Amino acid sequence: MNAMVDGFGRRIEYLRISVTDKCNLRCVYCMPLEGLDWLRKEEILTYEEIASVIGAMAPMGLRRVRFTGGEPLVRRDLHRLVRMTAEVPGIEDISLSTNAILLAGQAEDLRRAGVKRVNVSLDSLRPDRVDAIARRPDSFEKVMAGLDAAERVGFDPIKLNVVLIRDQNDDEVEDFAELTLDRPWHVRFIEMMPTGANLDLSDGSYLSCQEALDRVRAIDALEPVEGPSGNGPATYYRFPGAPGTIGVITPMSHNFCDRCNRMRLTADGHLRPCLFGDLQTNLRDPLRKGEDLRPLIEETLRIKPERHHLVRGSSAGSGGLVALSQTGG
Ligand code: 5AD
Ligand code: SF4
Repeated sequence: MNAMVDGFGRRIEYLRISVTDKCNLRCVYCMPLEGLDWLRKEEILTYEEIASVIGAMAPMGLRRVRFTGGEPLVRRDLHRLVRMTAEVPGIEDISLSTNAILLAGQAEDLRRAGVKRVNVSLDSLRPDRVDAIARRPDSFEKVMAGLDAAERVGFDPIKLNVVLIRDQNDDEVEDFAELTLDRPWHVRFIEMMPTGANLDLSDGSYLSCQEALDRVRAIDALEPVEGPSGNGPATYYRFPGAPGTIGVITPMSHNFCDRCNRMRLTADGHLRPCLFGDLQTNLRDPLRKGEDLRPLIEETLRIKPERHHLVRGSSAGSGGLVALSQTGG
């Protein structure tokens, strides 16, 4: 079988695809309130072009695709791209990372088109706080409607992403953990990463996953468990007998780059071997000229760095990235 293996022996079979840099929220740790300098329409890959990139990588060993943004559901008819992706031979798994604001209206189409599972960003269980962190009114109720729809159409697993923010949601770590006693959801605590747009917050309001786990362990013992799917960066635990799990994603306190299994495609068609750093390969222009993408993909694989170099309170390691929404989180 063909396999994409990088210079450090890591097998790359997973591509995260940002379908838009735009978002309908303004999460405090992610986007400035005024938004970013959005890409122009002609800079963004069409669905047909994205499918061509997937079609070029699948024979090389690509097996799993995740659509992200910005917020992927603000791009029209995403289910169309999902269906095109599902038709590419070799693609076994299609997933979605979303803030779920628009999920209720799209869940069924997406499920039918081939999305199997979703990750939903939810940083608090209190309506006023969700709205304050997302800086858009009525966010909480929309996300809850989205989660209901996700369960109804059968996305499985459902993972919740919780970015830890001291003094804004750290007192809810226990509530999030206890949610896994009631629901088969996978709650993942994420350490805040510095980007150009959040340097003060990601330094001053940083909370480590270790601290979050210590609080959770005060409720009951946790047992280490296998993750729900894929071997991503998260490490998982469970309360004895609980249907859901508790995961931690520790980009700042523990480096997990040795397990990295992915590359990223930006909305404007650049293949990035790492979330951070300034390495990227322009696939869009060669694609539009009808050139063969394979050598470019191979070269990107070859230069994939061993690890990221993020430092708290500094944008040095983020390679000029203003927000994660620019590269698909
Ligand atoms: N640090 C940590 N997580 C972040 N996310 C967005 N920006 C950051 C950041 N600076 C999260 C989103 C989403 C996931 C893909 O990344 O909340 O859940
Ligand atoms: Fe949008 Fe996600 Fe960024 Fe929030 S974290 S502003 S939902 S892209």
